[in-house]
Amino acid sequence: MSKFVKKIKIIKPDDWHVHLRDNEILNQVIKYTGKFYKRAVIMPNLNSPITSCLKSIAYRNRILKSMHLNYKFKPLMTCYLTNSTSPKELEFGFSKKIFVAAKFYPNGCTTNSKTGIKKISDITPVLECMEKIGMPLLIHGEEINQNIDIYDREAKFIEKTLDPLRKKFPKLKIVLEHITTKESVEYIKNNDVNYLSATITPHHLMLNRNDMFYGGIQPYLYCLPILKKNKHRMALRKAISNGDKHFFLGSDTAPHLHKNKINMLGCAGIFNAPSSLLSYVKVFEEMRALKYLQSFCSENGPKFYNMPINKETITIIKKPCKIIKKINVGRNVIIPFLSGEILNWSIESD
Ligand code: DOR
Ligand code: ZN
Repeated sequence: MSKFVKKIKIIKPDDWHVHLRDNEILNQVIKYTGKFYKRAVIMPNLNSPITSCLKSIAYRNRILKSMHLNYKFKPLMTCYLTNSTSPKELEFGFSKKIFVAAKFYPNGCTTNSKTGIKKISDITPVLECMEKIGMPLLIHGEEINQNIDIYDREAKFIEKTLDPLRKKFPKLKIVLEHITTKESVEYIKNNDVNYLSATITPHHLMLNRNDMFYGGIQPYLYCLPILKKNKHRMALRKAISNGDKHFFLGSDTAPHLHKNKINMLGCAGIFNAPSSLLSYVKVFEEMRALKYLQSFCSENGPKFYNMPINKETITIIKKPCKIIKKINVGRNVIIPFLSGEILNWSIESD
């Protein structure tokens, strides 16, 4: 591809890591993911987490309803693992396509994770079952302990939890979600792509930890895993720049109301759905790797999940696009990533 690409046509992407929330927020944010992506893996960490088939079916129906009958977008549901998850429930949900995967939140690692897992050995029967039926385990990979520095939690998780887990369950399909470090990139690359993959967010590709404190504290750049040193950002950018099948798109778009972002105890999460795809394009362009954009956005994910690659295409053109400033939710607002900024790429239909 030449240096001066003006138009890119790719298979319509999927987003393999999305928080849509519920009720009023869901109604306002759904259209942004629906515009750019054909399918999305929906995270189950609602205030009342999605822990059963029945809850998942009801939540999926609320999502479909919020789309005002635009059924072109397909939500792919996940089950939130707790100490009481039963292997039978998972097996039934997976076989009936109610769930595409299950999510492991270490206890206390992020938003709505107080019923997450304290010790991974507590869910051994669940993991045995998932390995047997080929159901992917999606992992928030941080070792949660006040004695571990927040910047080291991902690397420690690989050493203390992920590596032993993979030795015990070598055929368990695992997605290490939103990786942020050089150590994770190396760990993933050195392992079998059929059983281990990773998603990468636009914000971890674009920002480093200095950005969180640029000109003052920036609550809107607080997410988990936290932004890291620049050398880690560079490792992530390199990882996606050669078409490596281990890595695919997972934006971790995570809307929170403004009042909760700027609270004394501000929530972690970056709402990037209005800009995520265009941000990825920017990064691939900067890396001179646009020819690998399609594999990252539209091919590696479905191959890992054993799902068909989408038939539709989208065309991205070199035309400035202003990212929406804010979204109203009742009397509150949600401010998106890159609010009011101009990106160089747009979707052709705009
Ligand atoms: O920053 C984050 N926000 N990281 C997560 O892992 C969860 C998410 C959320 O749900 O708010
Ligand atoms: Zn997430």
